Amino acid sequence: MTRGGVAVSMDIACRVVTALLIAFPFRTVRGQEAPAGNLLPRPSETAAHADAKPFRLANPVRIVVPRGAPRLAEIGKLLATVIRLRTGYAVRVGPAMARHGAIRIDTTLASPNAEAYDIDVAEGGVVIRGATSAGALWGMQTLRQLLPPSFDDAKGPRPPSWMIPAVTVHDAPRFGWRGSMVDAGRHFFPVSVIKRHIDVLSRYKMNVFHWHLTEDQGWRIEIKRFPDLTRVGAWRTERDGSRYGGFYSQREIRDVVEYARIRGVTVVPEIEMPGHSVAALASYPELGCTGERLNVGIDWGVYADVYCAGNEQTFTFLEQVLDEVIALFPSRYIHIGGDEVPNDRWRACPTCQELMRREGLASEDDMQRWFVGRIGTYLATRGRRFIGWNEILHGGHLLADATVQSWQDTSWTRRAVLEGHDVIASPEQWTYLNHSARDLTLERVYAFEPVPPGLDATAARRVLGGEVPLWSERIPTGATLDLMAFPRLLAFAEVMWSGAPRDFVSLERRLDTDHVPRLRALGVAVGPSNRELMELSLSYDAAARGARVRVAPAPGVTLRMSDDGRPPSATSPMVADSTLLNSDGVKRLQPFLGTQPILEERAVTVERHRALGAAAMAAVPRNRQYQGTGAWNLTDGLIGSTDHGDGLWQGWWGPDVDVIVALDSVQPVESIRVNFLQNIRSWIVLPRQVEFSWSSDSVQWAPALTRSHDVPRTAEGARIQPFSVTLPPGSRARFLHIVARNTGVLPPGHPGAGSPSWLFTDEIVVR
Ligand code: ACM
Ligand code: ZN
Repeated sequence: MTRGGVAVSMDIACRVVTALLIAFPFRTVRGQEAPAGNLLPRPSETAAHADAKPFRLANPVRIVVPRGAPRLAEIGKLLATVIRLRTGYAVRVGPAMARHGAIRIDTTLASPNAEAYDIDVAEGGVVIRGATSAGALWGMQTLRQLLPPSFDDAKGPRPPSWMIPAVTVHDAPRFGWRGSMVDAGRHFFPVSVIKRHIDVLSRYKMNVFHWHLTEDQGWRIEIKRFPDLTRVGAWRTERDGSRYGGFYSQREIRDVVEYARIRGVTVVPEIEMPGHSVAALASYPELGCTGERLNVGIDWGVYADVYCAGNEQTFTFLEQVLDEVIALFPSRYIHIGGDEVPNDRWRACPTCQELMRREGLASEDDMQRWFVGRIGTYLATRGRRFIGWNEILHGGHLLADATVQSWQDTSWTRRAVLEGHDVIASPEQWTYLNHSARDLTLERVYAFEPVPPGLDATAARRVLGGEVPLWSERIPTGATLDLMAFPRLLAFAEVMWSGAPRDFVSLERRLDTDHVPRLRALGVAVGPSNRELMELSLSYDAAARGARVRVAPAPGVTLRMSDDGRPPSATSPMVADSTLLNSDGVKRLQPFLGTQPILEERAVTVERHRALGAAAMAAVPRNRQYQGTGAWNLTDGLIGSTDHGDGLWQGWWGPDVDVIVALDSVQPVESIRVNFLQNIRSWIVLPRQVEFSWSSDSVQWAPALTRSHDVPRTAEGARIQPFSVTLPPGSRARFLHIVARNTGVLPPGHPGAGSPSWLFTDEIVVR
C-alpha cells in the first residue's frame, strides 16, 4: 500500500555550515564553460572572478597529486578518464610535475568537516583542496560541473578548447548521510542500471547507496551457504505463468561496491527481517512458523508469513547470511529492515509463544524488538552497526546502538531522536520518489526539512541526514527508475548538502539550463516535476455505447496498444486520448519513452453484453473511495483485474451490495454473471452468497436463485470469483435484482479483526 503507488493512476556528522552566497556577475565564454552559478548542489560560497581569464584545458592535461596518497591518485585518475574520453587529450596523473597549468588535488584544507573542500580556478591552474580525500572527491565533482553541460555528452562535437571559469568555491555539506535507496526486490535492476544510478549519485555528492536486496517477491543476493535463496527465492511465477527474477552474484556485488567506493559512495545493504521475507521462506520453509511450502510472492503489499522468532534455526540462518553480507560490504552500517511485521503467525505459533514466555516478552511487538535487538547485538560483535525502519521502535526501549530510518511520517524522526537514536530521515510524504511527481512534486521534495523543529542542538545532531527511497512495485525497468528519480533526486541532493537558503526559482533554472541536459547527455531519462508520467483511466461513453481510454502522457511518453495477445511493442498502434474500445477481447496498453517500455503494462478486458450501458441502481451507495468508472461501472463492458485499485471496481465497506439493473426493454435473458474480488490483506472479502432475481415489471419477481462459493476467508492473494445463474429457458426480463451478502467483520488473527470487511464488485454481464 504505502510502498506501492507510483499511482500511475492506472495510478554523517557535519552540521549547518552558515552559508554565504556571494552575488557575482556571470560571464560566459561562448558555451565552453559553465557559469559557476549553475552548480548543484549549491556550494556554501562561490566567488566568480569576473575580470580574470579562465583556465583552459591544454593537451596534455596534467593532474598533480601528492606522493604517497593513493586515494588522491585514484580521484585524479577518475578525473583523467573523464577528460580523456571527452577531449581525446593525453592526461597524466602523478606527483612530480610542474604545477603551473596543472590541476592540483590535495588534502591541505583545514576544516572540521571531513567532506569540506575548496576550489581555486585561475588562468594559471586549478587547485582542489579537500579536508580529507572525501572532500577532494567532491571538489573534483564540482570541477566537472564548471565545465559546460556539453562536456557530459560523450557523443557531442569537440569544440576547439574547453574552459573552466576563474572562480573560488568554499563548500561543505550540511548532512553526512545523503542517500538514495533502490528496491531491487520487487523488480530486478541489472548491474549497469545500478552503476549508472551510483554514478549520478556521486556527481551530485550523494554518498550513500542503500541497496534493498531482499523482499517477499525476490531474494537478490547470492549467499553461498544457502544456494536455494537464489535458486528458488530469486524467481517468481507470475499470474500469467511467466517467470520473473534475477539476482546479483557475489562477484557482481563486489564490483558494484568497488565502483561506488571509487566514486565516494558507500553501499549499505538491506537484508529484511523478520517481515518481507516470503522469498527466503519459499526457499527454506523450515524458517517460517508454519513450515508450509510457500511461493515467492507475486502480490504487492504485506504478507503474513515472517521468520519464526521461536526457532533457533532462524538466527543461525540469519547470522550465517549476515556473515557473507559483512564480507561483501565494508559499510559500517547494515540495514536489517524491521518494517511492516504482522503478528498473525507469531500469535498462532507454539514455538513463538513459548519463546515469549521464556523471555518474559509481553507482546508480539516486544518479540519483534527482541528479534531485532538480538541481530543488532550479533552485528555489533562483528564491528557493525544496524539500521532499522521506524517500526523497530514499537514496544519499549531498544538497543541504544540502533539507527532508525523514519518513514511513516516526520513524527518518527522526533521520537527516535528523543529516545537517543541516530536517525536517517525518509518520511514517505516528502521523500518517497516512487510516488508520482503529481503527489510528491519537485517543489515539495525541495521544501523537505529533515530536522524536526524545536530540538536542541544535541538532539538535532542525531539526524544524520536522509534518503530518498525508490520502491519498485511499479518501477519495472531502469528507464522507469530514472524517470521517477529525476529530476527530484537532484532537489533532494541540494537539501542534503547545502545549508544555503533554498531558492526554488534558482533550482528550476539550474535544472533547465544545465543539469537536465547533463543527465540526458549521460543517457539518464528525466521525468516531469509535478505530474504523472502518464495519466490513464477508462470511462463509459453512453452516447457511443462503449468505453473510452482517457490518456494524458508526459512529454516524450506515448501509449501503445495490442489486442493479439502479444505484448505491445514500440511499433504497436499509438492510443490517443478518447480512443473508443468497441471490440471484445483483452487490450494490452503499454507506455513507452521513445522505444523503451516504461511503467507497467495494463491489460483491459472488454466484454460487451446485453446490459451494456444499462442503469444500475444500488440501495446503499458505493464507497466514495472506490467508485470504479462511475455511474456505469457495473455495465460499462470493462472487466476489473485482480488489482482492486485499477479503477474498474466498486467498493462497499460493511453493507450488503443490493443492486437493480434496468434494461431498455423486456427482453430474453439466458444468464446473469457478476464478479467479486477477494484480497484479504486489503480487507476485501468475497460475499457469503449472491442472490439473483428478475422481473418484467419490477412488481412481480422470479424466486431468487442463490449462489455461494468455497473460497476460505483466510485465502491469501488476490482472486476474482464469478457468480452466475442460468435462467429457465424462455425467460424474459427487464429488471435484474442482485444482492451480495457481506460476511461481516474481519476474522480474529487479521490485522483488522473486528472491523467491517469490503465487498468489491464489477460488471453485471447479461446474456
Ligand atoms: C517501508 O516503506 N515499508 C519502509
Ligand atoms: Zn514461530
